[in-house]
Amino acid sequence: MSTPPAGKLAVPELAELKRRGQKIVMVTAYDAPGARFAEDAGIDVLLVGDTAAMVVLGHEGTTVPVTMDEMLFLTRTVSRAVRRPIVVGDMPFGSYQVSDEDAVRNAIRFVKEGGADVVKLEGAGPSLSRVRSIVEAGIPVMGHIGLTPQSATMLGGFKTQGRTAAAALRLVEEARALEAAGCFTLVLEAVPAPVASRITDTVMIPTIGIGAGCGCDGQVLVYHDLLGLSEGHLPRFVKRYANLSREIRDALEAFADDVRTGAFPSDEYDYSMPDDELAAFEQAISTNALGA
Ligand code: KIV
Repeated sequence: MSTPPAGKLAVPELAELKRRGQKIVMVTAYDAPGARFAEDAGIDVLLVGDTAAMVVLGHEGTTVPVTMDEMLFLTRTVSRAVRRPIVVGDMPFGSYQVSDEDAVRNAIRFVKEGGADVVKLEGAGPSLSRVRSIVEAGIPVMGHIGLTPQSATMLGGFKTQGRTAAAALRLVEEARALEAAGCFTLVLEAVPAPVASRITDTVMIPTIGIGAGCGCDGQVLVYHDLLGLSEGHLPRFVKRYANLSREIRDALEAFADDVRTGAFPSDEYDYSMPDDELAAFEQAISTNALGA
């Protein structure tokens, strides 16, 4: 691919952060204001996650329904809003499962139409050849193992992965295989902390944890979860840094009350006009048949 635009955090810098023991910070983003807030806060990587299905598109408990076109729309809004953070387009279910060709075609769409810097896809196994093909096309790929929500049905739900010795070993093998296939980073989701730490020590590429303990090279949370915009049950690994849904509801209720009682808009929110113009207007309208 081409040289990154001026001011953009270069993809190899993430490996450099790992080497220096500096943590990588990633958050999901789905719109321009959220992306700008994240950039202003110094976030390194913005993931336009397929969690959009649940947190912005209203699908209950599944990421599967979100489409390529919806993901491209969201990715475009994020990528045009920021300069420094690396923007990751999350390949939705169905966009890479069928063939390597499909995977490359859709990854290219993320870059050309969505303005993404890199793409992410879930799983190892059949995903390994997808990763190789996309990387060969010149697009960096972020892997994602552990709890992979697109295959939650096969995993028996949104469950912690790698809790037996055999399953933990499988995760280590998957991580190694994804590194060998060319991934430049790896998301580890809902994996016991000691297992995630071992994977982090085993691979040279940075690991970014979500529910995977503090031994990972970086951390990611879903924007709506960390800001308290998501309601209902949240996974154990979510730390809330604000309660924005409460603030938004309170503000909307106050607005509705003000409108219904006439308290809003008060004079300070009105536009005025010169007194003589107003008098002329009143005079004209009182003598004008249309205004009568
Ligand atoms: O889609 C997403 O938001 C993700 C994160 C949970 C890592 O994949």
